[in-house]
Amino acid sequence: MATQKTILITGASQGIGAGLVNTFLERGYNVVATSRRITGSGRFREAGHLALVDGDIGEAATAAKVAQTAISRFGSIDALVNNAGLFLTKPFLEFTPDDMRKLSSTNIDGFIHLTQLAIKQMLAQKSGGSIVSITTSLADHPIAGVNASLSMVTKAASTPSRRALRWSSSRRRYG
Ligand SMILES: NC(=O)c1ccc[n+]([C@@H]2O[C@H](COP(=O)([O-])OP(=O)(O)OC[C@H]3O[C@@H](n4cnc5c(N)ncnc54)[C@H](OP(=O)(O)O)[C@@H]3O)[C@@H](O)[C@H]2O)c1
Repeated sequence: MATQKTILITGASQGIGAGLVNTFLERGYNVVATSRRITGSGRFREAGHLALVDGDIGEAATAAKVAQTAISRFGSIDALVNNAGLFLTKPFLEFTPDDMRKLSSTNIDGFIHLTQLAIKQMLAQKSGGSIVSITTSLADHPIAGVNASLSMVTKAASTPSRRALRWSSSRRRYG
């Protein structure tokens, strides 16, 4: 069993995700950092405890590559931060099917694919684990003038699913 814990961080090339990468490296974690263009972002370089994976998190193949990288390189998955997110603002009547497809892909599919793989690995390891999904306070507390209705539909999607996961049919506490 790996002695050093391994965390997966999505949306890691900038902003909150990049900050988390640095914080967990400083705390002695192995980190698998992913975004569509993380290797070209110039922010991080592959190193002993840091693996970088390029890919769209809405695609199952990206999630598979991230999970496989963690296991083959570091031997475990102990934590996941679902941080990658897309936020589009426009009046509700102007959202297009293509907008909705992009929002769903990043904010919902991206959450599901990697969370499933992380939970499977955590169950196999039998040592627990943590999964954090970053949403936004706007999902519960909309602000007049911030036209983000369909962004919020997709950002909020992980909240009820987290609650449902807490009490699955197998009575394990996933959430
Ligand atoms: N900043 C805020 O004020 C705020 C407020 C509320 C909630 N949040 C939430 O907090 C999280 C982080 O916010 P942030 O402001 O730090 O984000 P950000 O600066 O906009 O960065 C987004 C990150 O996600 C990656 N990304 C975007 N779409 C992706 C996709 N389809 N596949 C893979 N990676 C993708 C981007 O990298 P690539 O371009 O290389 O893919 C980037 O690393 C988001 O979920 C956001 O909704 C932020």
